[in-house]
Amino acid sequence: NKPTICVIGSINMDLTINTNKMPAQGETVLGKNFAQYPGGKGANQAVSAARLGANVHMIGAVGSDAFGDTLLSHLASEQINVEGIKVSEYPTGVATIILSENDNRIIVSPGCNELVSPDLVETHKQMIKNSNVVLIQLEIPIETVKYAVKVAHEFEVPIVLNPAPYQRLSKDLFNNVTYLTPNEIELKEMQNDTDIDSIKEKLIITKGDEGVQYYSKHSLSNVSGFQVEVKDTTGAGDTFNGAFAMQLANGASIHESVLFANAAAALSITKAGAQKGMPTNEEVEKFMKERGVLH
Ligand code: RIB
Ligand code: NA
Repeated sequence: NKPTICVIGSINMDLTINTNKMPAQGETVLGKNFAQYPGGKGANQAVSAARLGANVHMIGAVGSDAFGDTLLSHLASEQINVEGIKVSEYPTGVATIILSENDNRIIVSPGCNELVSPDLVETHKQMIKNSNVVLIQLEIPIETVKYAVKVAHEFEVPIVLNPAPYQRLSKDLFNNVTYLTPNEIELKEMQNDTDIDSIKEKLIITKGDEGVQYYSKHSLSNVSGFQVEVKDTTGAGDTFNGAFAMQLANGASIHESVLFANAAAALSITKAGAQKGMPTNEEVEKFMKERGVLH
């Protein structure tokens, strides 16, 4: 009995250059190899959950161009239901990524991700209704995020909101989501918009190789990160979110969900591209046993 997850979010083509040195302002550096990978926080999180065995429905948009064709058939090949993905006249979203050994810097041109509208969500709201968990990020218009949260809230479907990249959010929105998964930069920005203390039970803070922090029964828990051989950190947060949502949808506790998602994210960075290293359920369990966190 597979859990169902509805992802509402972005789909991008990632254009990645590896480099030993990040360029400084006004500087040109000679990098290393170039590669093109499927990406976008929405699509990445959808693929993460699907690889782990969830039934995934995605609401999003691609352009009617070469990137769009490639990305749409790629998502379908990952067993994701793409009926909620609109094909539009705008160009497909693109991310330029500069990748050095331990860092990644990303600029996204949203293109048709801007066309993921409240109307599109309304058209496919049965997908939300039929889900065990809804997963949303902030690479689509904020009014769409608000609308999707409202619909899911009305259907009483738990909502995981990954506030990335950070955009201003209202207090209402924070109140209506079930979990928020900022990284440390996003958490700082959130602090300007809301009283973090009043929503701390909803916070799951991802800290890269330092692991994850969350509150349980009013006290802060730390889950350490894993030491792995790093190939590509792009999409580690997305792997975490997809895996976390999948575990919640399966009825796992917060602690179990965080442990599992933390392991999935660690595995994902051992391979190139945002999605290539995203593990299956068996791979995560095997890794957790090897590292002594699952018996
Ligand atoms: O989180 C990583 C993702 O951010 C990349 O795949 C890129 O497309 C941007 O959306
Ligand atoms: Na990766």
